[in-house]
Amino acid sequence: MSNWQELEKKYFMSTFKRQPIVLTRGEGIRVWDENNKEYLDFVGGWAVNSLGHCHPTIVEALDQQSRTLIQVSNQFYTVPQLQLAELLVQNSCLDKVFFSNSGVEANEGAFKLARKYGRIHRDKAYEIITVSGSFHGRTIAAIAATGQHKFQNPFVPLPNGFVNVEYDSFEAIKAATTNLTCAIMLEPIQGESGVNTPDTAYFKQVREWCDQNNLLLILDEIQTGVGRTGTLFAYEQFEIEPDIITLAKGLGGGVPIGAILAKEKAAVFEPGEHGSTFGGNPLVCAVGYATLKFILENSILENTRETGAYLLAELEGLKSDFDFVTEARGRGFLCALQFDREISGEVVTACNEKGLLINPVKPNAIRFMPALITQKSDIDAAIGILKDVLSKWK
Ligand SMILES: Cc1ncc(COP(=O)(O)O)c(C=O)c1O
Repeated sequence: MSNWQELEKKYFMSTFKRQPIVLTRGEGIRVWDENNKEYLDFVGGWAVNSLGHCHPTIVEALDQQSRTLIQVSNQFYTVPQLQLAELLVQNSCLDKVFFSNSGVEANEGAFKLARKYGRIHRDKAYEIITVSGSFHGRTIAAIAATGQHKFQNPFVPLPNGFVNVEYDSFEAIKAATTNLTCAIMLEPIQGESGVNTPDTAYFKQVREWCDQNNLLLILDEIQTGVGRTGTLFAYEQFEIEPDIITLAKGLGGGVPIGAILAKEKAAVFEPGEHGSTFGGNPLVCAVGYATLKFILENSILENTRETGAYLLAELEGLKSDFDFVTEARGRGFLCALQFDREISGEVVTACNEKGLLINPVKPNAIRFMPALITQKSDIDAAIGILKDVLSKWK
């Protein structure tokens, strides 16, 4: 065990199941460990590093802004915050923005918006319907929203006001809607429970139901947003307009930033009702702005669609070589490979040893979330390693 692993054991809370790798450097879609071993990074900081590691645009924005203004209070206006808010609104169907420091904080803000909306427009309704298998983050309210008992059980009692219903069932949402309901919250594609995508028809039905009942439709786009699935926001692919979306991960290209975007009618906060010390500070917003502008101006979405489709086709192709590979699924650079047995841990360890980083999203599925700049040659290299590893079970 390296010294760093011993230090982790001694000083860090035991929250992460880490791979025995100490990463020290990154460039593009590659990272290096303390022994200078090179890896292809298909984890991408958990779907965060949209432009890869240490992209010159991000480095330049960090450098410039860190020499200009890093943090001031939200008691004042700052330019990067407003530039990023404007760019997000100009490129989405939403009207107003609030910046947080992480995904879960964006969701917390969205819960508050929904409750305030319910208070004003639905006779104090406060319940938010969410679905099984969802993942909305780690705060006490977000685990109540998250439809997975394994995240909830150690921390009961949870705050009330969240109703988890069956996944991908419009009937279940209908049945759970009462006078107390103020919003429905969904992920366009469930990332953490294995890359699951409901039909467009489902989203359309939910949208109509929200319209008929004056409920807000909140989409958690923390993992799917900012280009990850091949469009700037995943909702575009389901032909609906949400009332609120939450973002984080890819938005900052690696720096911690989250955002709530809301339609005018749902942006019901009044001064003093929400806030953040660090949220939307000039440093992270300048990097977020540079990242988003680069994505929009450099065919990054096209690359994600085309090269992402190539990744999916290559994964699909593994089914004919390996009978225990049962499904390849996903969109853009959010893909998963399903096995008929629980071998993810072993597959990931063997891939790591051969220089490929991937994520064991479930005991029987692995997930791929490389940077949006990934090229076909990178995918060929990754698939080559994966084939080599999978041949052990042939
Ligand atoms: C869909 C979704 N929502 C919320 C979160 C929580 O985001 P964060 O870890 O930035 O708090 C995640 C993180 O994986 C996520 O995938």
